Amino acid sequence: MAERAPASDPAEGGSSTHSTGATTGRDDAGTSRDKGTGDARRGRLALVLGATGDQGWPQVGELVAHGWRVRAAARTTARLSARIAEDPALAAAAREGRVEAVAVNHADAASLERALAGADVLLANYPSSSFHDARSLIDGAAAAGAAAARAGVQRVVFNTSLPMPATPLGYAAQDVRFAQREALGAHGVPVITLAPVVYMGNLLRGWAYPAIVERSAFEYPHYPDTEVAWICQEDLAKLMVAAAARPALAGRTLNVGGPERLRGADVARVLSEVLGRPIEFTSQPIEDFCARMRAVFARDATLDAARLVDELGRIYRWYNEAPERPFAVDMTPVLAELPVRLTTLREWAARQRW
Ligand SMILES: NC(=O)c1ccc[n+]([C@@H]2O[C@H](COP(=O)([O-])OP(=O)(O)OC[C@H]3O[C@@H](n4cnc5c(N)ncnc54)[C@H](OP(=O)(O)O)[C@@H]3O)[C@@H](O)[C@H]2O)c1
Repeated sequence: MAERAPASDPAEGGSSTHSTGATTGRDDAGTSRDKGTGDARRGRLALVLGATGDQGWPQVGELVAHGWRVRAAARTTARLSARIAEDPALAAAAREGRVEAVAVNHADAASLERALAGADVLLANYPSSSFHDARSLIDGAAAAGAAAARAGVQRVVFNTSLPMPATPLGYAAQDVRFAQREALGAHGVPVITLAPVVYMGNLLRGWAYPAIVERSAFEYPHYPDTEVAWICQEDLAKLMVAAAARPALAGRTLNVGGPERLRGADVARVLSEVLGRPIEFTSQPIEDFCARMRAVFARDATLDAARLVDELGRIYRWYNEAPERPFAVDMTPVLAELPVRLTTLREWAARQRW
């Protein structure tokens, strides 16, 4: 069960433009002692875009655990409905009308209008700009921003999915997120932006997991001295849900990470402890990493693999070399505003199947 965040900013007050329920026992989502009564009117309503994704799915559970009513959105509802039914807490919430799957396509403004009707908060997660056309991602955010304003949504919590500089530096993946942030807020709905560094879940992906389990090798395109505040997607969900109840953060962009800043060798040491055998870190040359990704991009004939690989190499050099050390987030000031308990790499790794 997700951890409960402290009560919201008092400025949140007890009112909601849409909430029709009682306001007693209010916590960050407008319910607490109300929970479990089966009264679907209680609790404010959040829409989660990208809810089938690795990022969006934990946000659904976290919102429900905090007493929110949730609409979980993806292009089709079948997979979402099945996952909700498989999760005991979510299945119970669904029976009480506190969580439902809705179909939203960013390219279909009417689907966004329907999904946002009556919503108080939008948690916006978007797919990769490598595999999706940048224009469609920006237009989708613009449609969401317009629909949110019409629906009287109080705030958007926007997940950029990657670290952001203070101002655009000409990296395509970040430029799309800057444009999306502007588009989401273009009609006056306040936007709170969270920019996460590297996900611990990447260690389970095809570009890292096989080498760890088959060759006891942790190979990653990080320089030996690059410090990284690895974050798990469940902790990003906690931070997003905490932000959803904090109007004082309107307009802010917070780079967020986990509780530790680890070099590659530190990650290998943690994995060695958890797996019970020595795991060795190799700082993978960025060119090698890009060559592997070229093969992935080349499988999709609609993608311009050469351009994407070039972009990937450029941004990975920035991650490793930029003086502002984008991966080495210090969470102390962030936790003062979003007080959640963050998961160490060791805690996370011990929960995985290796
Ligand atoms: N920081 C890191 O370590 C890290 C690691 C991995 C990925 N990322 C970044 O995270 C971002 C997302 O990653 P991902 O692509 O793997 O995605 P994901 O968040 O796991 O999934 C994408 C979500 O978007 C939904 N979606 C896709 N197209 C849509 C559309 N047209 N309309 C509405 N919903 C749509 C998908 O739903 P359906 O397909 O079910 O409709 C899914 O729920 C990318 O920018 C990626 O680079 C960052």
